[in-house]
Amino acid sequence: MNNSAIGVFDSGMGGLSVWRELRRELPEESLIYYGDGKNCPYGNRPAGEIVAFVEEAVEALVARGVKMIVVACNTATAVAIDILRSRYQIPFVGMEPAVKPAALSSKSGVIGVLATKASFGGALYLASEARYGERVKIIRAVGDGFVEIVESGAEHTPEAVEAVRSVVRPMIEAGADRIVLGCTHYPFLADVICEVVEGSDVQIIDPAPAVARRAAWLLDEYDQRAESGSVPRYEFMSAAGEEYARHLAERADRLM
Ligand code: DGL
Repeated sequence: MNNSAIGVFDSGMGGLSVWRELRRELPEESLIYYGDGKNCPYGNRPAGEIVAFVEEAVEALVARGVKMIVVACNTATAVAIDILRSRYQIPFVGMEPAVKPAALSSKSGVIGVLATKASFGGALYLASEARYGERVKIIRAVGDGFVEIVESGAEHTPEAVEAVRSVVRPMIEAGADRIVLGCTHYPFLADVICEVVEGSDVQIIDPAPAVARRAAWLLDEYDQRAESGSVPRYEFMSAAGEEYARHLAERADRLM
């Protein structure tokens, strides 16, 4: 048993899509969410910079005594998860690029993957593409502007529809029947993606529920669950200051 909180980290608000699944899967666990906000987006930055931002966040969470950290950011996972695992004692759960479930369930033999530039360059992604790329055709695309749209709360604007359409329509036209959301900001655009793919038989795959199940499995494995009947606390921190942290809390509240 361990009543300490679980730390959840992202470059900004995107990781709230994972926070939501953690809260569903682990309703008795306290969560401390750290959204950088100051240095977001990470996606086009060099690896060294991203590692430095991630370490700052992890230090802040470790100082709060968290028992585990969920790196709710595909970009940070791609660049820094091995370094974090080698430096800290606590367990880390990273984001998996969900190429496997998409490739195994595709009927058309074509899948689309949306992620950031840094995520596509990561060893984890390249390994899964090498593994499943013979079975299906994989169309990868960077969601240009998607993170900025989500950070500014502009998901339901014509600009958002246009940004999504320009990236997602070519996947549909190439025959994709699965689209993987390889960045935790992208589930906030799920309604727009559904609108853009309307009329085609496409399934959108978000790895967040599987990541939350993995976190639950690890807590059980190390006997680290909060005591049964615990009332959870939800806290929000940011490198961008109090106002951004409040914004995270309000947004999280609207997700439930
Ligand atoms: N939400 C992040 C991810 O999953 C980061 C996006 C960014 O900061 O560029 O990749």
